Amino acid sequence: TLIRREDYQAPAFWIRTVDLTFDLDPAKTLVTAKMQIARNSAVAHGPLRLHGEELNLLRCLINGESVSFRQEGAELIIDNAPDADFALELRNTCAPEKNTTLSGLYTSGGSFFTQCEAEGFRRICYFLDRPDVMAVYTVTLRADKAKYPVLLSNGNLLESGDLDATRHFAKWHDPFPKPSYLFALVAGDLVAREQRVRTRAGKDHLLQVYVRRGDLEKTEHAMNSLIASMVWDEARFKLPLDLERFMVVGVSDFNMGAMENKGLNIFNTSALLASPATATDTDFNRIESIVAHEYFHNWTGNRVTCRDWFQLSLKEGLTVFRDQEFSMDMAGSPSARAVCRIADVRQLRAAQFPEDSGAMAHPVRPDSYSEINNFYTATVYDKGSEVVRMYQTLVGRAGFEKGMSLYFERHDGQAVTCDDFAQAIADANPGSALSLRLEAFKRWYSQAGTPRLQARGVYDAAAQTYTLSLTQHNPASPGQEHKLPQVIPVALGLLSEQGQVLPLQLQGSTEVSNEQVLVLEEAQQSFVFVGVASEPVPSLLRGFSAPVLLDDGLTDAQLLVLLQHDVDAFNRWEAGQRLALNRILAAVRSGTPLQLDGAFIQAMRAVLRHPELDAAFKEIALTLPGEAYIAEQLAVVDPQAIHAAVEAAQVQLAAALREDWITAFEANQIQGGYTPDPVSSGKRALANLALSMLVLDAQKSGDTVWPGRAYQRFKDAGNMTERLGALAALVNAHAELAEAALARFHELFKDDALVIDKWFALQGRTPEKDGRSFARVRQLLQHPDFTLKNPNRARSLIFSLCMFNPAAFHRADAAGYVFWAEQVLALDAINPQVAGRLARVMDRWNVLAEPYRSAALLAVQRVAAKPDLSPDVREIITRALASA
Ligand code: ARG
Ligand code: ZN
Repeated sequence: TLIRREDYQAPAFWIRTVDLTFDLDPAKTLVTAKMQIARNSAVAHGPLRLHGEELNLLRCLINGESVSFRQEGAELIIDNAPDADFALELRNTCAPEKNTTLSGLYTSGGSFFTQCEAEGFRRICYFLDRPDVMAVYTVTLRADKAKYPVLLSNGNLLESGDLDATRHFAKWHDPFPKPSYLFALVAGDLVAREQRVRTRAGKDHLLQVYVRRGDLEKTEHAMNSLIASMVWDEARFKLPLDLERFMVVGVSDFNMGAMENKGLNIFNTSALLASPATATDTDFNRIESIVAHEYFHNWTGNRVTCRDWFQLSLKEGLTVFRDQEFSMDMAGSPSARAVCRIADVRQLRAAQFPEDSGAMAHPVRPDSYSEINNFYTATVYDKGSEVVRMYQTLVGRAGFEKGMSLYFERHDGQAVTCDDFAQAIADANPGSALSLRLEAFKRWYSQAGTPRLQARGVYDAAAQTYTLSLTQHNPASPGQEHKLPQVIPVALGLLSEQGQVLPLQLQGSTEVSNEQVLVLEEAQQSFVFVGVASEPVPSLLRGFSAPVLLDDGLTDAQLLVLLQHDVDAFNRWEAGQRLALNRILAAVRSGTPLQLDGAFIQAMRAVLRHPELDAAFKEIALTLPGEAYIAEQLAVVDPQAIHAAVEAAQVQLAAALREDWITAFEANQIQGGYTPDPVSSGKRALANLALSMLVLDAQKSGDTVWPGRAYQRFKDAGNMTERLGALAALVNAHAELAEAALARFHELFKDDALVIDKWFALQGRTPEKDGRSFARVRQLLQHPDFTLKNPNRARSLIFSLCMFNPAAFHRADAAGYVFWAEQVLALDAINPQVAGRLARVMDRWNVLAEPYRSAALLAVQRVAAKPDLSPDVREIITRALASA
């Protein structure tokens, strides 16, 4: 059934308090819930309808008396609920160890965990499981003392002790009213890293990171990240921690990255555990940003939450924005900040742009869904974050902070909407570029699709004017034929052809500056700059000031000026990407093999040899555009042609810059111990890229030195970043040494699940050669370490192939699609959320070239034919078929 945003109705009842008692048993857990309930007088009189899924109801009392009730589908209905406030007591059981969906209460590694967002609480007990019903929770956990020595829930520990010789209990109380999706409990044999900290306000807090025995030394980075997040949120937004105790717990079986349950965040171990020997620089960064993300949710999500799930981006877009700002501030130098920004934009282009042009395209605030779990998407999260960034661009940093203060002043303790957020930012900044056009700006919430922005400039030498014409086009998306123009902030600067900064002065204005933000709000607008001394090179959309696809029509010569001289590091990078993209697209469109020209190679050489650019920047500048982003530029997508062009570009860059790669490799070796700071991780990234280029080149030249050095480095590496980098270089281009290295890697790390995930993922992503990569994935399904039940493991192999290895996946014989259909169905029987995510792979079947298109459609139809699909997969598949 389709749920529509416009059908929102306030709840007929409020649940003020809830007292939960759990008798924890893996096979059958007994849950007793006592609630204080009040009618919502603003809503028509009606029955009490509680959500409940896969529960066994044992008792239902109102004010201590039994009451008649009905069970209708997944609802418990009490027709004769009193008018006055009343007490409801319910008792039910659930079966945690049989719960493979990892939603609700489940067991993992012999411990109990919960995941309640979005609608998992109803799998634990009957409730008004919707975010606008906020209650104060008291929770008592009772369990076997030996098996479950640690008993945790939200808030503060009131009491704990023994029940009898074998069982004990703990009683928790969370003083903050919260929606049920923020409830959590954990029970198990865990150990904690602890740290006491004092905030600026002078309050003391206990921070704890709970993990399985043996993992404690891998929690230092998470603890440091947590402390840094606390400090940052107080400094930047004046938002302190509001609880005496803040707990973080790791679990190996988890559908997502992590969850912001009040005072008791639960993390996928992949987003929590790190040691230099087992985690890469990328992992360290990801952990820092996810720990921050969940911590920041305490204000943006928990203190102010969502009225309904259509408002999900209210908390997710805003919290992603906050974690991105945090990561940039942590990075430090301007260049390291730019590298962060570039990584975020790459991610947006790789995942969100394709989503926005595919079958599942939806606005940042969706209008309808049938399964909310399908809408924890790149659009809601990452485009949502870009929307928040545009607020900041339009009102300025200080203005944005004022807006945030007003937001909390107005809405602390409430469940609100995206409109409420927009209004607070605008009201705090009267007369700002945002407030003047707030209604139009809010189209970012309601219109799906990536706007196309075209920019063309005309220089008038005699008048010394430069006229920039901006045109936007908003292509149709499913259910949205015609769209209105968006409000697009375009940050820009002008450079002379020699690369000097040209001052900007708009006609009719006295203000002169080096950078400005133009606001495009109509389909087409022109902006005239005066006093422009020479023909300028425009640097547009600096810092990626809006989530659009830009066509700036710049020539190679102009792009080269930007690559060499732009003061905006993002656009410097972008110019290099554009040069590469143009060449790849020309080859793909013409169907001719790619042949890199001297000018391009020279430009890349200049970046690599540049005396001032740092290693991290060089590495991202020398990395070619991703295949998914390339596909976004094409009306008809031939994944093999794209892959062939990218691979050819790589091979040619490897050969042409061989000497420079050697220099880069040698110059970026790090002596001494491992730290994941931006400077050292940048050096490791560049050294890894150089090494992979040298091994790639050796494949053609027959050189044996570099493959040998790569193997040696793989063996001797002092950290996982270098070890995995060397291994990837071999897997990429030296089949023989790769076999030996993979075997050795497995042997070394066979007891560390997160590292074995990397081992599977690397093989799932191996570039296709004669069908071998695909065959290997099929073989690995039979590997004793492989299981579909653990989401990280399933993702490491299957998602790697289907989502990140287009050349192995899109096969003329359709075997990749057959594989996909099989795995979607197999996963759906275990874990619909993970299956739904995999189903998304076919979002864009409709733009594939033949023979892929027809074969992909057949595979989608095959899945659609299964009668008992989960609502998750059913929704994705139905949308895919509708996009024909
Ligand atoms: N709120 C969590 C986060 O972004 C993600 C929870 C996702 N849950 C889900 N069922 N899809 O940090
Ligand atoms: Zn989040």
